[in-house]
Amino acid sequence: MTPASSTADEFGFDVPLDRAGLSTAKWEMEIARTQDPTLLCFGTAEMDYRAAPPIRAALERVAGAGHFGYPFKRASYYEAVVGYFDRHFGWKIEKDWIASNVGIYPSMQPLIEELTEPGDEILYQPPVHHIFPEVIQAAGRVALANPLVERRGRYEIDFDDLSWKVTERTRMLLLCSPHNPVGRVWTRAELDRLSAFCLERGILVLSDEVYCGLIFDGVAFTPFANVSAAASRNSVTLTSASKSFNVTGLKHSLVIAEDEGLRGAYMRGLKRNNLYFGGCVFGQAAAEAAFRDCDAWTKAAVRHIEGNFRYLEQFLRIHLPELSVTSPEGTYFAWINVKSLDLATEQLRDVLEKEAHVAVTYGAFLGEGGDGHIRLNLATARSNLSEGLCRIAAAIRTHIPHSNQPGS
Ligand SMILES: Cc1ncc(COP(=O)(O)O)c(C=O)c1O
Repeated sequence: MTPASSTADEFGFDVPLDRAGLSTAKWEMEIARTQDPTLLCFGTAEMDYRAAPPIRAALERVAGAGHFGYPFKRASYYEAVVGYFDRHFGWKIEKDWIASNVGIYPSMQPLIEELTEPGDEILYQPPVHHIFPEVIQAAGRVALANPLVERRGRYEIDFDDLSWKVTERTRMLLLCSPHNPVGRVWTRAELDRLSAFCLERGILVLSDEVYCGLIFDGVAFTPFANVSAAASRNSVTLTSASKSFNVTGLKHSLVIAEDEGLRGAYMRGLKRNNLYFGGCVFGQAAAEAAFRDCDAWTKAAVRHIEGNFRYLEQFLRIHLPELSVTSPEGTYFAWINVKSLDLATEQLRDVLEKEAHVAVTYGAFLGEGGDGHIRLNLATARSNLSEGLCRIAAAIRTHIPHSNQPGS
């Protein structure tokens, strides 16, 4: 298979990054950990793409001004945010609903602390980013798993499990929408049903929508709060430009709530944790540019990611037919089932890291349902993906000799 890109590559997504001078958790940290300069990294959730030109220009303007005091949000910031959610999802939010933080998880903590009591149960839906249960437990609450179910290769919310699991002490649900790692973009009908379930039982929804800009062609994303007026009042949306515009290191995120009581609780939580004056002047400038000026860039990035997924799917079909992959509807993850290899996580890690020289995320660390899977980050140059897949196939072939050879 040739690694040719299927896009015109207007933004240079297929040009491998010059890593000189970079220092990222995705690459440099993994290379330092393994002491392996040949390692190809497909783990940490960020893209290998250079950020969109308007974001780079905005950051240069801030750097050029040479003053880096606590940031203030001008009207143009709010207009950019309000405009983005209306333009893309028809979600009409108001300036007053918007607060910020330095990241999604730091926003969960004050909300959990203010809106639940120690010992209360908080639902989450594994396999999911490992921080979900960790944030709950760190606050002294009980992490109540409502694992997703896989039906005919598609992950779904298990409403039966929810209805018998929930108790009087269940106060909150941490929703991941779109879902990392399985790539589901929940339909309006699914969210509507979830909202009704939560409303009936007094369960507040914190909806982590950090991947909302990465929606595949033909798929519709519905912000949880836009499902209905009642859902809007019974939820807080945590979102960011970080994943959709590849500015994860700039530490700026949004906390959006219509309900005044919920907004007040969030502010109290911030004050209690002495985070009230937090904020990064670069992150704020990047977010404003991202939400206002970067639609074409994200659209092209999503097209590139979809092209990479199709490439991976075909590669597996030809060279590793014993593995299967879930079809993502959004995000930049390929969620690959490797159960047929019959390897424990540590053995699998030895094969992929020491023999293939490839870093991925292991599903075993993403909670129930994650074992026997790897998550491979598709947001990279096609040549990089191709090289990584060839290495994986070659290493696996030494363990399962009847696999087809790359190039055959
Ligand atoms: C589902 C999910 N939420 C939140 C985050 C953290 O995002 P940020 O660092 O932009 O706050 C991640 C990071 O991987 C994630 O996967």
